[in-house]
Amino acid sequence: MVSEFGKTSKGESAKLYFMKNKNGMEIAVTDYGAALVKAAVSDKDKKMQDVVLGYDSAAAYEKGDVYFGASVGRVANRIGDASFELNGKTYELTANAGVNSLHGGRDYYNKRMWKAEKIEDRSVTFHLCSPKGDQGYPGNADISVTYELTDNNEIIIHYHAVSDADTLMNLTNHSYFNLSGHASGTVLKQEVMIAADSFTRADAESIPTGEIVPVEGTPMDFREYKTIGQDIEADYEALVFGMGYDHNWVLNGDGMRVVAGMRSKETGIAMEVVTDLPGMQFYTGNFLISEAGKEGAEYKKRHGVCFETQYFPDAVHKEHFEGPVVRAGEVYDTTTVYRFHTEA
Ligand code: GAL
Repeated sequence: MVSEFGKTSKGESAKLYFMKNKNGMEIAVTDYGAALVKAAVSDKDKKMQDVVLGYDSAAAYEKGDVYFGASVGRVANRIGDASFELNGKTYELTANAGVNSLHGGRDYYNKRMWKAEKIEDRSVTFHLCSPKGDQGYPGNADISVTYELTDNNEIIIHYHAVSDADTLMNLTNHSYFNLSGHASGTVLKQEVMIAADSFTRADAESIPTGEIVPVEGTPMDFREYKTIGQDIEADYEALVFGMGYDHNWVLNGDGMRVVAGMRSKETGIAMEVVTDLPGMQFYTGNFLISEAGKEGAEYKKRHGVCFETQYFPDAVHKEHFEGPVVRAGEVYDTTTVYRFHTEA
């Protein structure tokens, strides 16, 4: 099913694409920003709960600056000093987070109309041509993001990109999850697990120092489920700098694997994050102040959390961090899955 999602300030008409599986789980995605707008999952009382934060119209997505549900690129997260060198040439980006570049820096991918292609009952592909020089990056890049809903209650997000020159590429999804329902308030009592033995230490500007720090004995240890609130106020450098959790975890293992989980005792709704990427930003909505959301909801600090699978932030400046250089003609292909189930 397709419905209108209003017009942008440029007069473009956005659409909302709905997909439903045999269990009644329903998601909606929009071509404006290739964003996930809705993910309704049945709770333990068989009531549908929309577990992602979002807005009611494309215009609200255009106004917002917290990246609800967004497809983020060309390089998600931060690049130190908003510049990088590639093949001996320096590229200047836009400094939009202090002196650093965050989530593309300018002309955000999540503030553009993507072209909906291959619209099927259970999947939609959004396509974006990102020309050479776009946001300061080299290479004409042909990018697509496919959302698919399966009968296993999985939202599969598949990223595919090719550039005609060497460039950087690090696409992510910036959905904020609240498994007690998008309008239910803080997530502090919900539990999270992150399958990571270490995280990348960052400075006060959230740029990795290059150190890989074991989580053992620190508030960053999520190897066993614990409530998000348990240690979030600890007097620990990373939490002070991030004003809560806002770091990159070094995910254990490689290939498609479960890297994180979250669950709400209140609704019984649980999710797992599966990805083939090496890192994940776990961000606890520390910068949400007051966002007027969908269906009259008001979202505040820590009303949702993001599991942003990625190459490590500032990897272009760290030789021992993998990625995010994509060579001319090379296929950038990664997949992240958000999988849901309900516990009694
Ligand atoms: C996260 C980032 C945060 C914040 C947020 C958007 O990915 O790590 O520091 O910028 O996006 O508000």
